[in-house]
Amino acid sequence: MGDNTRATDLLIESVLQERRQFPPPKAFQAQARIASLEQYHQLCQEFAQDPQGFWGKWAAQELHWFRPWTQVLDWQPPQARWFVGGQTNLAYNCLDRHLHTHRRTKPAIIWQGEPGEVRVLTYEQLHQEVCRMANALRALGVQAGDRVGIYLPMIPEAAMAMLACARIGAVHTVVFGGFSATALQERLRAAQAKVVITADGGWRKGEVVPLKPQVDQALAAGQVPTVTQVLVVQRVGGHTPMTPGRDVWWHELQPTLSAECPALPLDSEQMLFILYTSGTTGKPKGIVHTTAGYNLYTHLTAQWVFDLREEDVYWCTADVGWITGHSYVVYGPLSNGATTVMYEGAPHAGNPGCFWDVIQAHRVTIFYTAPTAIRTFIKMGEEHPRARDLSSLRLLGTVGEPINPEAWLWYHRVIGGERCPIVDTWWQTETGGIMIAPLPGATPTKPGSATLPLPGIQVQVVDRQGEPVGVNQGGYLVVTHPWPGMMRTVYQDPERFRRTYWEQIPPRDGQYFYFTGDGARRDEDGYVWIMGRVDDVINVAGHRLGTMEIESALVSHPAVAEAAVVGRPDEIKGEAVVAFVILEGHYQPSEALKQELREHVVREIGALARPSEVKFTESLPKTRSGKIMRRLLRALAAGEAPSGDISTLEDQSVLERLRD
Ligand code: WT7
Repeated sequence: MGDNTRATDLLIESVLQERRQFPPPKAFQAQARIASLEQYHQLCQEFAQDPQGFWGKWAAQELHWFRPWTQVLDWQPPQARWFVGGQTNLAYNCLDRHLHTHRRTKPAIIWQGEPGEVRVLTYEQLHQEVCRMANALRALGVQAGDRVGIYLPMIPEAAMAMLACARIGAVHTVVFGGFSATALQERLRAAQAKVVITADGGWRKGEVVPLKPQVDQALAAGQVPTVTQVLVVQRVGGHTPMTPGRDVWWHELQPTLSAECPALPLDSEQMLFILYTSGTTGKPKGIVHTTAGYNLYTHLTAQWVFDLREEDVYWCTADVGWITGHSYVVYGPLSNGATTVMYEGAPHAGNPGCFWDVIQAHRVTIFYTAPTAIRTFIKMGEEHPRARDLSSLRLLGTVGEPINPEAWLWYHRVIGGERCPIVDTWWQTETGGIMIAPLPGATPTKPGSATLPLPGIQVQVVDRQGEPVGVNQGGYLVVTHPWPGMMRTVYQDPERFRRTYWEQIPPRDGQYFYFTGDGARRDEDGYVWIMGRVDDVINVAGHRLGTMEIESALVSHPAVAEAAVVGRPDEIKGEAVVAFVILEGHYQPSEALKQELREHVVREIGALARPSEVKFTESLPKTRSGKIMRRLLRALAAGEAPSGDISTLEDQSVLERLRD
């Protein structure tokens, strides 16, 4: 496992001690959609016997098609085309088809703003708003295939904007509102966006966070020449400078627009969105998802993993700026006709019980959040959830990083009242939807394990050559069969797509291995235990960051000659950013300079990447070929003695000096 061996060994040691098992609670199982392991195995078997028949059956049953497909899958590794020749529309599947049913007046979105206001949009109302926004985009010159940047807080307009794009075949690229103007600019430029949808600002922990000024900065001096118009949602009020001819207020345009806009029949493989995510280079990758496969996959996985029922009130706490927000705040739940809760605030916005207030107020039945949030709740104290009525909850979920068994058990006991199953869901921006997770009515859970791959998904843990490793042995997690929700390419960089995901483990005999970048082991029951990234990606509070991206940001500061960034284990955030910095000759180390560099990273990327620690050094441990030995830096950052082979270290004295 190369550079990560030690960390992985430690994890294996600690989780091997974990032997507790939780069968699906009887009361839950009695009403579940998939209610036994036999049923799960039955579905897996159906897939194994006829993979294309399996997906074809679900696609026909669960989605509306304007035109049926002629071929389920055209697989020319690593290029997949799903439901070839078919035509559908994701916004139609999320909205229009529910209007002919009792769901017309059912809440589609229950939104709660951080300051406490509530908006409920029924399917009918959401449909109208989406149509208006689609008409607005058209009026601003957007056509099918054009890219639209979305830089919004967690307000219903974010979901509307995404659905409006999907409705007319425009490609959205959502940029998380916590990203800086520089990061926004980079993404808008890479996507060649034509229009940007933003807001004057959003609320965060009791304060207004301005967004429109960031857009102005990103677009200043024609830096992103493709952007011709900016649609601005009024969220916080106050003065917002508008650029005439470019900027348009949504609330001024909205009343003039028709609430009708037929959903365009779109090719199955019509590009749906680009979502930028961190990789092992300094440049984020534009992950491309397409219409039909993504729709089917998020629809089915939401139904299976969350056991969605008509009366559920489902709340996923993710921001729409991340894939979890795309797949499990907006598309998956709405495609199923569910009620999805959107909340603008952070776990500790206002009061330490604000999340529990939301659950109590809206009688939330399914709650899906990140381990880092759970660890924050634990620290804030169980008196806060205890003081609320959480009896509406019937299912809990986690996503984004490995959950430590202690946090799992707390979640189960304090939030779930020991009656709610927990689904630990493993997946990635690239996979589109959940890949490995328990089916809550069927799969016995083990705290810390994402358990078994979903029906239709085949994974293995292998070595560098693609040879499966033994039971409980660490290796690389790979997916061995294409699935409908898989990414199609890296935007405008098919070579990077091939290299990063399909050639890390060399294909053989026509068998391709999708490389996840995660280390894992499988236990004697076949349960998957994720060990964390094996590449230079770190996971800070559930946010994926590339160490090289942060290094590039640091090096762009005039004082920095060279930088190396690693993750250090952190009790709450999972990992924290530690930066080792070599200064340019004429700069002197100082506390002020450390602070300046931390803020520089915030300006370049966003607060999510702010280093917890900056360490000045005169040299970095490198191999003779000049590669930074991050393994050694990780050990130093964690305050451990570097172990393992250091014979390739070029200058042995570097370690001594770094330790001082
Ligand atoms: C990486 C993907 C897709 C959800 C949000 C993150 C880590 C994700 C789990 C889990 C252990 C997990 C992996 C993965 N990860 N879920 N349940 N257990 N690790 O999406 O930003 O694309 O990050 O998050 O390391 O590769 P993302």
